[in-house]
Amino acid sequence: MKYLAPTVALLFILISGQTALAAGNPSRGLEKSQACQACHGKNGNEAVDQNTPILAGQHAGYLEYALKAYRSGDRQNALMNGFAGDLSDQDIADLAAWYSRQEGLVTPVIGNK
Ligand code: HEC
Repeated sequence: MKYLAPTVALLFILISGQTALAAGNPSRGLEKSQACQACHGKNGNEAVDQNTPILAGQHAGYLEYALKAYRSGDRQNALMNGFAGDLSDQDIADLAAWYSRQEGLVTPVIGNK
């Protein structure tokens, strides 16, 4: 009983720490990808042309990095600056979770996928 309060406190810290990380939700990512599908396809494999990248199977961390760079304007592309401009960090995490889990690019597993 003596350890109950510290244990509860520790659990609380652990749980709140978890929710602070914007974990991506793939099914919400699919819902949010309606506008993306016209060019990248439903699962990120059906790129409309050779200038449109395959997103399926790409590392989630890279997809987030790329989308944040389009959003901030660090990476310039007339189409993608527009599509990423209104995305929140949570939208980006969800979209990255969706596309990274699809069969497509074969990438070596480095860190979190
Ligand atoms: C009108 C077509 C179009 C739409 C719609 C579109 N994209 Fe793109 N996307 C592109 C093109 C073209 C590129 C390559 C741009 C470049 O050269 O930087 C790209 C690049 C990307 C990249 C970078 C991939 C890499 O390998 O570097 C990501 C990630 C991405 N798009 C995600 C999305 C998401 C998520 C959405 C929806 C919110 C979306 N795109 C909507 C055409 C589109």
